[in-house]
Amino acid sequence: MLTMSAQRLQDVTQRVFVAAGTPPDLATQMAEILVESNLVGHDSHGIIRIPAYIEQIRKGTLIPDARPEVVEETPGSALVDGRYAFGHIAAAFGTEVAIRKAKESKAAVVSIVRCNHIGRLGEWTSRAAAKDVVAIVVVGGFGGPGIAAPYGGAGRALSTNPISIGMPGGEMPDLLVDFATTAIAEGKVQVARAKGAPLPPGCLLDKDGNPSTNPEDLYAGGMLLPFGGHKGYGLAMVVELLGGALAPGERYNAEGRRGGAVIIAVDAATFHPLADYERAADYHLRRIKQVPPARGFSEVLLPGEPERRSKEERLRDGIPVPEATWNAIVAAARSVGLNLDN
Ligand SMILES: NC(=O)c1ccc[n+]([C@@H]2O[C@H](COP(=O)([O-])OP(=O)(O)OC[C@H]3O[C@@H](n4cnc5c(N)ncnc54)[C@H](O)[C@@H]3O)[C@@H](O)[C@H]2O)c1
Repeated sequence: MLTMSAQRLQDVTQRVFVAAGTPPDLATQMAEILVESNLVGHDSHGIIRIPAYIEQIRKGTLIPDARPEVVEETPGSALVDGRYAFGHIAAAFGTEVAIRKAKESKAAVVSIVRCNHIGRLGEWTSRAAAKDVVAIVVVGGFGGPGIAAPYGGAGRALSTNPISIGMPGGEMPDLLVDFATTAIAEGKVQVARAKGAPLPPGCLLDKDGNPSTNPEDLYAGGMLLPFGGHKGYGLAMVVELLGGALAPGERYNAEGRRGGAVIIAVDAATFHPLADYERAADYHLRRIKQVPPARGFSEVLLPGEPERRSKEERLRDGIPVPEATWNAIVAAARSVGLNLDN
């Protein structure tokens, strides 16, 4: 395992994307966003993705110098054409539009079509919460076979259909809920597979619909299950319809590339002054934080706390980078004419 500073990883990421044809300002944004995922502890959505994005650029499905734009709007809504730019760049743009419109109109909804992978959804809801805007971000509606089964089903029909919700705190830190609606994210199945470790029960069915804990079964036609049985499944379906029906993907997206991201934003000061919102939010956040720990736990954490703690730690001690991840990044850099050894 290597350990690298955030600064070094941002520098490397920026240079690789510039070498692949990304304008420097967009490459800098991408570097900050990917390394932030590593800092907050979601390595599955950080620099490990660089080789896949370079491959998409090579195939022409990701256009590194494209910039998103608003193609339809009202005071409370905007349709953003991601133009198959980096999905992160489209999501950053869409989030900015949603925050601005929520401030002007109290609430706003933004749909991003022609959108590539937007990475860690919590990036976008955290940005909104930092500006005193409550935000819900989902990615779904791909409509293909996906990788997950509906509750009670034994066939692939859904993607991991993630959802993130950010709520501003006052003196207390912002609340950040951010996860896939499958019991386990696909990236974590890959990690278990690499280690030869079993998955926890309740995450996976094999291709014949039998419960399994063997990660190999997912890649032999198996399927992930929703978290929380019918409840997580219900949430996955909401994400599916937000991304697949509310969003006009069919009209805009290229063949085989349906679905997209939807951002719902509400000004925290909609019903009373911001100071009153913050006082009330802090009351609830403190109340929950003070609950004594159950057996086996040392404290109650608020959603978002694990990410904040990871960031503090990794800014101080560096970011662990598996050698295989680093070697893949070096190879991806070489493929676009950049030698990372110098
Ligand atoms: N772009 C995409 O298409 C896509 C698809 C799937 C997942 N993702 C991303 O993958 C990342 C990981 O997803 P995941 O499903 O593995 O998430 P996860 O299971 O790691 O859950 C993370 C969430 O749970 C909270 N949490 C964790 N431990 C907690 C505790 N003890 N007490 C209270 N809260 C706690 C975190 O603060 C965070 O809100 C997310 O950032 C998600 O957005 C993206």
